[in-house]
Amino acid sequence: EFIKEVTGIKVLEKQLKDKLNLDYAVVVPGDSDNLDWVKSEMGKACVNYLKDQLIPRQTIGITGGTTMAAVAEMMTPFQDADKCLYVPARGGLGERVENQANTICAEMAKKAKGNYRLLYVPDPLSEDSYKTIIEEPSIKEVLEIIRKAGIIIHGVGDAVMMAERRKTSAEQLRLIKSREAVGEAFGYYFNQKGEIVHKVRTVGLQLEDLKHAEHVIAVAGGRSKAQAIASYFKPGQSNVLITDEGAAKELIRGI
Ligand code: BG6
Repeated sequence: EFIKEVTGIKVLEKQLKDKLNLDYAVVVPGDSDNLDWVKSEMGKACVNYLKDQLIPRQTIGITGGTTMAAVAEMMTPFQDADKCLYVPARGGLGERVENQANTICAEMAKKAKGNYRLLYVPDPLSEDSYKTIIEEPSIKEVLEIIRKAGIIIHGVGDAVMMAERRKTSAEQLRLIKSREAVGEAFGYYFNQKGEIVHKVRTVGLQLEDLKHAEHVIAVAGGRSKAQAIASYFKPGQSNVLITDEGAAKELIRGI
């Protein structure tokens, strides 16, 4: 029975790798929609992957979210990669404090015995504030560090759920719905075809910056997120996916 399960998981990983054009895929057993510990297992899988990839003094950009919080929870010091620097990929994105990239970033650095820099910028930003803020020397310095991050780790969310969680204005929520957004990552909203249909204006990592990172790791699971994950991967911005069986099976069925 156990062997059968392991083989099943391996097959799912291979199928995902091929379908989403990934360098690496991890599927943990279970569905995080129903069981919280499955999210922790994704966190653990992410930390294991990092163990093999991280080098000393590397910069790691991370986003917020409950899945990223699970990654932080599982973080341990890396023997072969000390003095790494953890930075939030973007501003606050309107999340509760425990789900914000800044909070998770500090937590990760603490557990990994690394360093961190934070980004104190509200969002969304008006066009005028945006222009002024990016010229602020202290912000500029952190932004440059973020743009050069070699590893990015991020969550992917269901579009409407994320918009609501961020207390998006009624007007923007209508827009997100009318443009049929299904997925969200880094404050970008994607429709089923993978087109960007909305974007939260804020400082930090922009989608085009992902090209410069060596590893872009998406950590997202749960059957309910399958469509969101598929939409985000259509343009293919990340090369690693850490997910669960719930999302993986649905993704394979749907794509
Ligand atoms: C947010 C990220 O903080 O977390 C989003 O900025 C992501 O890009 C979201 O979609 C995912 O959240 P969760 O709680 O489902 O892991």
